[in-house]
Amino acid sequence: MALKITVIGTGYLGATHAAAMAELGFEVLGLDVVPEKIEMLQRGEVPMYEPGLEELLRKHVAGIEGSSGRLRFTMDFAEAAAFGDVHFVCVNTPQKHGEYACDMSYVDSAFASLAPHLTAPALVVGKSTVPVGSADRLARTLTELAPAGEEVELAWNPEFLREGFAVQDTLHPDRIVVGVRSERAEKLLREVYATPVSDGSPFVVTDFPTAELVKTAANSFLATKISFINAMAEVCEAAGGDVVKLAEAIGYDDRIGKKFLRAGIGFGGGCLPKDIRAFMARAGELGADQALTFLREIDSINMRRRGQMVEMTREALGGGSFLGKRIAVLGATFKPDSDDVRDSPALNVAGQIHLQGGQVTVYDPKGMHNARRLFPTLGYAETAVEAVRGAHAVLHLTEWREFRELDPASLGEVATDRIVLDGRNALDPAVWRAAGWTYRAMGRPAA
Ligand code: UDX
Repeated sequence: MALKITVIGTGYLGATHAAAMAELGFEVLGLDVVPEKIEMLQRGEVPMYEPGLEELLRKHVAGIEGSSGRLRFTMDFAEAAAFGDVHFVCVNTPQKHGEYACDMSYVDSAFASLAPHLTAPALVVGKSTVPVGSADRLARTLTELAPAGEEVELAWNPEFLREGFAVQDTLHPDRIVVGVRSERAEKLLREVYATPVSDGSPFVVTDFPTAELVKTAANSFLATKISFINAMAEVCEAAGGDVVKLAEAIGYDDRIGKKFLRAGIGFGGGCLPKDIRAFMARAGELGADQALTFLREIDSINMRRRGQMVEMTREALGGGSFLGKRIAVLGATFKPDSDDVRDSPALNVAGQIHLQGGQVTVYDPKGMHNARRLFPTLGYAETAVEAVRGAHAVLHLTEWREFRELDPASLGEVATDRIVLDGRNALDPAVWRAAGWTYRAMGRPAA
């Protein structure tokens, strides 16, 4: 009989995982403690913008016309425990307020709520990004709290999905990493992932601490690549070099590779910034803080790019105060194809200029509702052209396709001054300059 799967936590990761599991042919029960989330999902709607996710949900959510009916939702832990052979825990681990460490309260509460209902053999699989050592502790919690005791096992299976590509990354992962303590756990997970593995995804079997570390190591490496190229951008700015050419040229070396070398205002979002900070905090607890002191530098290179963007804007406007200056900000989300504004470099830059007296108008294709909620005092426009109308400078801060396809000539007609600052090195300088704009970008010569 086919395995039955539950997914605890139906946020970004959980909703995607649940839909993907249904797509792979399993009967799936998603659980969340927030009633509004469950109601939305039952209607086949997602509370965030993620290409392809709503379609996948609608294909499987029970009660939707023409669906497979394989995906249902509940708020009841007893029902989830009775339903699943494999329980994936997909809850959030945000950064603790005012601290580097990550907040494990959602994970802890998910385990504490599920375990007392596990009266039969089951496999619980952690997917959340956690400090190394958590799986070992949570395995003990399960044995202590589950009536089935040792029959309830834990495995750790980190998730590497990228926002904007979540569906594709879940159905066709680069790799599947599982931390297990028994052959039975490995066998069950091989069954769950049989389709992606037969499609070519490598299946890496390891222990708990390695599985937990793979995720934080991968994100630390990506953050390091971005901060490395941003450090090179700072040097290029000082020396008159061009970081875009530099990245292209070093990227031809396969050992370096071209990806994640786009200089600009740096990384944000719900993962990279908090993951490198939580990693440093955990290394400190383990007495290995020296090994990760470089991550402090990665973080500070990243954070100072935002201030440098503000200064570049000030300079382009002739120096001095932002008072009386109208600034159009194109982009609010931390990256394109997402509506996520968590730790968004774009909104941080917009907020700094606003606080310094600039009159900021933001436009983003998908992130307006979240941006308005987080930064209610900024100005907002319904289109890019409206944001640019009357602007003394245009800041391109999230590289949506829509912005690359703008016509600089007609935008120039509505702007007060034709000054564009590219915080993502994604616009074509030649096209903008040909239309009469002064184009400035991070890490590139002025003209
Ligand atoms: C990241 C990891 O990529 C993913 O594997 C993990 O599971 C979760 O964290 P995500 O947060 O969706 O995914 O974003 P990502 O695509 O990694 O981009 C992070 C940030 O880096 C964005 O703000 C992006 O604009 C920035 N970035 C990315 C750069 O500044 N330059 C680059 O070259 C690439």
